[in-house]
Amino acid sequence: MTTFDYAPAPESRSVVKISSEYGHFINGEFVAGANHFPSINPANEEVLSQIALGSSADVDRAVKAARVAYEAVWSKMSGRERGKYLYRIARILQERAREFAVLESLDNGKPIRESRDVDVPLAAAHFFYHAGWADKLDYAGLGHAPQAHGVAGQIIPWNFPLLMLAWKIAPALATGNTVVLKPAETTSLTALLFAQVCQQADLPQGVVNIVTGDGSTGAAIVDHPGIDKIAFTGSTEVGKAIARAIAPTKKKATLELGGKAANIVFDDAPIDETVEGIVNGIFFNQGHVCCAGSRLLLQENVAEEILRKLKVQMAKIRVGDPLDKNTDLGAINSSAQLSKIRELSESGGSEGAERWSPECILPDKGFWFAPTIFTGVTQAHRIAREEIFGPVLSVLTFRTPQEAIEKANNTPYGLSAGIWSEKGSRILWASQQLKAGVVWANTFNKFDPASPFGGYKESGWGREGGRHGLTAYLKSSQLSHKEGGVNEDE
Ligand code: NAI
Ligand code: MG
Repeated sequence: MTTFDYAPAPESRSVVKISSEYGHFINGEFVAGANHFPSINPANEEVLSQIALGSSADVDRAVKAARVAYEAVWSKMSGRERGKYLYRIARILQERAREFAVLESLDNGKPIRESRDVDVPLAAAHFFYHAGWADKLDYAGLGHAPQAHGVAGQIIPWNFPLLMLAWKIAPALATGNTVVLKPAETTSLTALLFAQVCQQADLPQGVVNIVTGDGSTGAAIVDHPGIDKIAFTGSTEVGKAIARAIAPTKKKATLELGGKAANIVFDDAPIDETVEGIVNGIFFNQGHVCCAGSRLLLQENVAEEILRKLKVQMAKIRVGDPLDKNTDLGAINSSAQLSKIRELSESGGSEGAERWSPECILPDKGFWFAPTIFTGVTQAHRIAREEIFGPVLSVLTFRTPQEAIEKANNTPYGLSAGIWSEKGSRILWASQQLKAGVVWANTFNKFDPASPFGGYKESGWGREGGRHGLTAYLKSSQLSHKEGGVNEDE
């Protein structure tokens, strides 16, 4: 069979203008920062811009601006009026979608196909969805006239920079809170472009404030006495530190943390669709996905066939330039993340699992990791227990459905899971046994603003999205803890 190489199809980067240096966005204006650090393109290590390192004084100014905006404007405005701003932001995101997609791929390293088709449209969808809620909060089953908390401090990670911003800002604004948001240090650029969108939408000053910086800036937000509610997505380690920091305070928190999702394949699964779903489950966004299907559980009698087909499929994954429209797997977000992926993968080999990657030529510059699978993995191996957060799949096998459930739940995490089976009854049975906030059946990594997302156990507290997600931003919630608010594990 003859195969043809794909000709390069690069998206033009001329649609984005990147300043050589940025400040913070406080009270509706860009203000200069004192110290800066570089943001680089992880695909070639080019410095894109200098980002301001927010100090506690910067955070203080932002929190004060958010408080004034909350008291003087946003809390007094009707839901209907707030909704108009959210619709306006959503439409501007759509109009400027190409600009956002290119900037996201440049700063994060993810393929343009994904930023264009997933991150940016979903970010706009979150604003549209929550715009619709803004004037209907009385009818959300949360009691009469539920009240906002006030000022929300929001700290987000680098894997879906704009999308995580939308997950945080859209529900906060819809429910009448104002925000101080900190993007991750490696991926601040789309948040800063979003600040321009706030100006373009004539959003009242101080309703959205963006302070860039690192963990120290995040900690200053968490510790600030003027913050009423924290929303965090990131590592379990930092999530625990935040929980400890706010324990003696009245601050509310939602924490979206790590995962080690089981993707379970039963022997009656439709094989070809399943193989595609496995690939999407672990290699989407370079595996930098908290809900990635990183533990594949195969029923023993189909394991050989699935693995054979999976390897064929993996050999077709195109790794390279994130701006090329043909690229499937882009760059690893940072050298630190690459070191973590390498270290854990090496432990897989030394602990006795068998490693396999297709032949693929990685670029010389930048941070890259070939799609990798480990077979012969046992539950004791580090690669079966720890979040790798990269394009690395650990494969385990099982004989009976009960054994699959036991292995799937044998983890400190509980964010997501996948089930592949043709039998509806088996899918329903398994999804009830699995301790995971989201269970996908015969699909994986599907997101919708109407669908609540969040974890059990060490994967976090609370839900984001849907009606459940609104409760995190409102005081007089009548949803029980079980239904929405707190950890559903108990
Ligand atoms: P991280 O948890 O350190 O960073 C996430 C955000 O928290 C960033 O904005 C960071 O500046 C901020 N932050 C860091 N320390 C803080 C503190 N003490 N107080 C307040 N905010 C703080 O995650 P990192 O170091 O980027 O990644 C490490 C690992 O975490 C990854 O390898 C992955 O396993 C996991 N991770 C999980 C994510 C998820 O979506 N659940 C997202 C990012 C990372
Ligand atoms: Mg960057």
